Amino acid sequence: MSNLELLKKELVETVRAANDIPALEEVRVTALGKKGKVTSLMQTLGCLSPEQRKEMGQALNKLKDEITAEIEAKSLLLKKAALDERLEKEKIDVTLSPRPSPKGTIHPISKTVEELVAIFADMGFSVAEGPDIEDDFHNFTALNFPEGHPARQMHDTFYLPEAAGKTRLLRTHTSTVQVHVMQMQKPPIRVIIPGRTYRSDYDMTHTPMFHQLEGLVIDKTTHMGHLKGCLIEFCRRFFEVDELPTRFRPSFFPFTEPSAEMDIGCSRAGGELKIGEGKDWLEILGCGMVHPNVLKNCGIDPDEYQGFAFGMGLERIAMLKYGIPDLRTFFESDVRWLKHYGFGPMEGA
Ligand code: PHE
Repeated sequence: MSNLELLKKELVETVRAANDIPALEEVRVTALGKKGKVTSLMQTLGCLSPEQRKEMGQALNKLKDEITAEIEAKSLLLKKAALDERLEKEKIDVTLSPRPSPKGTIHPISKTVEELVAIFADMGFSVAEGPDIEDDFHNFTALNFPEGHPARQMHDTFYLPEAAGKTRLLRTHTSTVQVHVMQMQKPPIRVIIPGRTYRSDYDMTHTPMFHQLEGLVIDKTTHMGHLKGCLIEFCRRFFEVDELPTRFRPSFFPFTEPSAEMDIGCSRAGGELKIGEGKDWLEILGCGMVHPNVLKNCGIDPDEYQGFAFGMGLERIAMLKYGIPDLRTFFESDVRWLKHYGFGPMEGA
């Protein structure tokens, strides 16, 4: 093998052995750089005879081209390998879920409100709201609770410090919003009012803050038959029982006359409560025809208009529908309870 062939073999081997771009560049400098092996040989051409120079010159040029081609090929390989490695390292897993799966749940009270709004919206009711902090007029006086009457003590009211000489309190029922609505809207009126209410009470079936849903219908010919039809339809839809027995017992509220309490049929056989079956009754809400004094207090002529109202405890009906035994647990924010009794965002009404 000639010297040039040996040199070529050596250079090709070093090119192939280079395992990154800087190493390859070093090889290039050693072979083809100013002081490189091939370059140095070219510099010796001047000392040769013209024939030898021609022959050697061609051979060296060929060697230079071959080594350049080898280096280029290797450089491409190394660049591709470097790119592959980078792509591998910087890989994005596009199958990863864009958001963590939801961990929260919808509270049974929120769920109950959603269901009630849907049911009453189908019957043509709209939703109204009012303030939690009220005055004596909206909570009692306008609703026909006489001054100093024991009915005012029926509700264990949380009183707040007076403001501008006015008594302030946390509303004890959502009936306060009946007053606001009648003061602001002209009949016909058909509203439901979900909201927080407050009474000083605490045991298995009472918490100082709880929720009610109030209903109010005012029109020229509204009567007790409308009240019954509306509430029976509501209970059947809410408890999902088509043949739900219902009854209306006479009762008393200062703001309705006549007043009634509505019961639904149930069975308590074997200690398990089943709604719609058996011979037992379960009280579910208070209702009645709006007292003429209330209409008058709110600027509506009782000779022209009449209507009905109802009010129910949301925790109570949620407990009955979803089998939740203790009211206090609603507001303890225990995540295990929330997970157990809460609802997913897509669960249907
Ligand atoms: N406000 C009554 C209560 O809190 C419920 C009710 C509302 C009764 C409307 C009759 C009419 O108990």
